[in-house]
Amino acid sequence: MQIKRNVLLNPGPATTTDSVKLAQVVTDICPREKEFGDLMEFCATEITKFVGDLKEYTTVMFGGSGTATVEAILSSVVPENGRILIIDNGAYGKRMCQITAIYKLDTVVFESSSIAPIDLNALEEVIKAEKGLTHLAMIHHETTTGLLNDITAVGKLCDTYGISFIVDSMSGFAAIPVNMKDMNIHYLAASSNKNIQGMAGIGFAICNKKALLSTASIPMRNLYLNLYAQYAYFEKTHQTRFTPPVQTFYALKQAIIETKEETVEKRYSRYGKSWETLLKGLEELGLEYLIDKEYHSKIITSIIEPKTEKYNFEEMHDYFFERGFTIYPGKVNDYDTFRISNIGQIDYTDMENFLKILKEYLVKIGYAKA
Ligand SMILES: Cc1ncc(COP(=O)(O)O)c(C=O)c1O
Repeated sequence: MQIKRNVLLNPGPATTTDSVKLAQVVTDICPREKEFGDLMEFCATEITKFVGDLKEYTTVMFGGSGTATVEAILSSVVPENGRILIIDNGAYGKRMCQITAIYKLDTVVFESSSIAPIDLNALEEVIKAEKGLTHLAMIHHETTTGLLNDITAVGKLCDTYGISFIVDSMSGFAAIPVNMKDMNIHYLAASSNKNIQGMAGIGFAICNKKALLSTASIPMRNLYLNLYAQYAYFEKTHQTRFTPPVQTFYALKQAIIETKEETVEKRYSRYGKSWETLLKGLEELGLEYLIDKEYHSKIITSIIEPKTEKYNFEEMHDYFFERGFTIYPGKVNDYDTFRISNIGQIDYTDMENFLKILKEYLVKIGYAKA
């Protein structure tokens, strides 16, 4: 079967291989069959192995987008007398604050610049001053801007002050190497449709088992998203409590196999080569980007929009879309940007083609010379 290839330069769902797409075409199966339980078990086990040892870590999966998993963790692990500090340095940190506000969790917000590294001394002062903190939550890679947060340093602080550490690594997992034990991470959120290069629809919470088991006595704040209940039911029955996205799981299995074949390290260097190609091209075109190379994730780049009246993001989007490329709008309040991500089954040659079209478009609107 011939499937038209689109180059998705949005930060997920990403361009996938045909083998991942086709893995979804399977014989109908009831997800309560043992065979399907084995498939879910395979996915959970292999996902855990990317970031931790099976003896100490386990993966709990939900049908839902990445936000569902972040919400599952935040709403399930903070006890009634608990207190959580959230680092907000972009749209996804803000979303965590929105979630804890809805669940009325006692929350301290540490606001930090969306384009510069977190001030660790200031953070430590807040941790010392705010009594009774039990949890700290932050984003690994802020997809808003491309800023890579130093989770290793924050993990050390959490260790020093005996705080449970929650990391949303939605756009980092399966590309940027993570070791949960070394980084002192208790809960890590990720999803099926970004760097793992599967289809959208499954979120996973990779948990330190000891920490997860200690949440069993926390009264449930919701039904579907309760982390411990989802874990305990699967342990007991080899099934999920509610209908899982069956075909998406087959695609996820294939995506995991392909990630293991490529390895996370080599995937990150493939992404890195596309990113370097992008930056070189942008510099040649005279376009600026927001985040300093030193603090950059190499995964998504926020580009300052060309300052000319003829520029229009929607028009530019359509120009690219007609040519098989999908580009993404900006999400930072103080800057006019658009974003280009380099995740998924693409490489630097796709980026070179993107840059050719970008030049064409910029010439068309009179911003660049032919
Ligand atoms: C860091 C981060 N957290 C959470 C999300 C939300 O994921 P979803 O849109 O799948 O709910 C995203 C999506 O891009 C993200 O980049």
